[in-house]
Amino acid sequence: MAVFAMGWHKPDNVAGSSAPAIMVGLFVATGGLLFGYDTGAINGILAMATFKQDFSTGFKDDAGQPAMSPSQVSLIVAMLSAGTAVGALCSAPIGDRWGRRLSLIFAIGVFCIGGILQTCATNVPLLVVGRTIAGIGVGIVSVLVPLYQSEMAPKWIRGTLVCAYQLSITAGLLAASVVNILTYRMPSAAAYRIPLGLQLTWAVVLALGLLILPETPRYLIKRGFKEAAGLSLSRLRRLDITHPALIEELAEIQANHEYEMALGPDTYKDIIFGEPHLGRRTLTGCGLQMLQQLTGVNFIMYYGTTFFNGAGVENPFTISLIIQVINMVSTIPGLFVVESWGRRRLLIVGAVGMAICQLLIAAFATASGADQWTQNIILIIFVAVYIFFFAASWGPVVWVVTSEIYPLKVRAKSMSVSTASNWILNFGIAYGSPYLVDTSNTSAGSVDLGSRVFFLWGAFCILSIAFVWYMVYETSKISLEQIDEMYERVDRAWKSRGFEPSWSFQQMRDFGFSESGIPPVEPQLELQPSHASTSQSDTAGSSRTNTTSTTNSQDNKMLSQLGPVDLSY
Ligand code: BGC
Repeated sequence: MAVFAMGWHKPDNVAGSSAPAIMVGLFVATGGLLFGYDTGAINGILAMATFKQDFSTGFKDDAGQPAMSPSQVSLIVAMLSAGTAVGALCSAPIGDRWGRRLSLIFAIGVFCIGGILQTCATNVPLLVVGRTIAGIGVGIVSVLVPLYQSEMAPKWIRGTLVCAYQLSITAGLLAASVVNILTYRMPSAAAYRIPLGLQLTWAVVLALGLLILPETPRYLIKRGFKEAAGLSLSRLRRLDITHPALIEELAEIQANHEYEMALGPDTYKDIIFGEPHLGRRTLTGCGLQMLQQLTGVNFIMYYGTTFFNGAGVENPFTISLIIQVINMVSTIPGLFVVESWGRRRLLIVGAVGMAICQLLIAAFATASGADQWTQNIILIIFVAVYIFFFAASWGPVVWVVTSEIYPLKVRAKSMSVSTASNWILNFGIAYGSPYLVDTSNTSAGSVDLGSRVFFLWGAFCILSIAFVWYMVYETSKISLEQIDEMYERVDRAWKSRGFEPSWSFQQMRDFGFSESGIPPVEPQLELQPSHASTSQSDTAGSSRTNTTSTTNSQDNKMLSQLGPVDLSY
């Protein structure tokens, strides 16, 4: 437990309070509820007798009861993901133009329109339109929530706050499952209208809350609104606008942004060809997001109830509910260790655990020596353990890493492209799964994999281990600005854990960029008060240090009154 707590310890020498930023970050995290609830609700709704009766267009199941055809099921489930992919792609132009906060409010508005259409729908086409529109809202939210969080959070708790976003996704999935269980026996359309309508409630609360939250200081700096950025940072850090620590943090964000812009423009082309190493970073983000989907999590999330039902498991609704509880509760260990273990280690441990579970499920199902009951128990147990590993690692950490690795100038664009790749794969899996596993051979194009589909997910989990080792840089405990320096100075991802930040972007701006990447050492700077260049060992014993320098003598005077304060966030 000690190691868990250490990851969350606010360093004693950090100026100001982190409480406002934490509260804002946690509140915004609840945007994940919309994402989770909307994607989760459909799982149970599709299995409801009243829904099938009201929406069936003549297709009958094996028992001769009205049902949805596999293509209708695929369409209903997958159009949300298609909408989200579009939403994710739109989020960058919107988020860069209107700001993260206003764009989030807009996205929630779009989500509500889609939610209302879904609730009123009496046939498949209207339901699909509603899901697509709600999906666009969810897609924008899925980019802008982690973006907003990472741009306003103090570095020592940034990862945990973004993990809280995943916690709300899982809470949303769980809430949908609970509501479905409470309503599925209702004899009327209320059985599915209540779960569909309820998603609007939190959306309204979130939009109202966002009206009074600050815009992120980094976005304001990007747009050149330095004073507004100062005010925002002052609210978030509970420091006076004239406080030296605040002036320093702002100056470093600004200098870093100027440095990034000096390396080249911030167009879509630059997210692949730009510097510093933008192509590698974009590839890392897209790869992580795609692999997160290819671990097979949404096969369980979207079709769990139907799949367990088909596998002869009794009470599939209850099993799905248990899976959702495990999914939510298991996010908490990830929240604890994301700072102390770091992103890389957590992702690798998670992928190993997931791979073992997936391969065991597939192997047991294929060997099939055991009776049906034993096979089902094995299936359920390993699905549960798999979910534990996913929820504690790849669920949250992928969002954390993709919100951290991009420089400010292209952060919204790169995040939007990487998140869109998550949704495109999500769409593919949502659409393709019924065909992959359908063992009834009723639909053309079905591959008849049954439980062997877990071999496929297991193989991708193994690939994920290698991907993290070779591509993912360790981003814990350093500021977003220092991540730029890391990509410039560390050439291999697996060496990134030992990286020690040493650049001050203000220094580089004021004394010139050094070709070698090492900022010039000015005798004058060495004479500055020692705390103006503060070293701070991180709380988990890593050797990373943070060094910043002041830019003018007035700041130096103020700094000399401060004592040992870490001015780097
Ligand atoms: C994924 C979703 C998934 C959820 C499950 C998220 O991180 O992006 O696709 O449904 O986790 O908890």
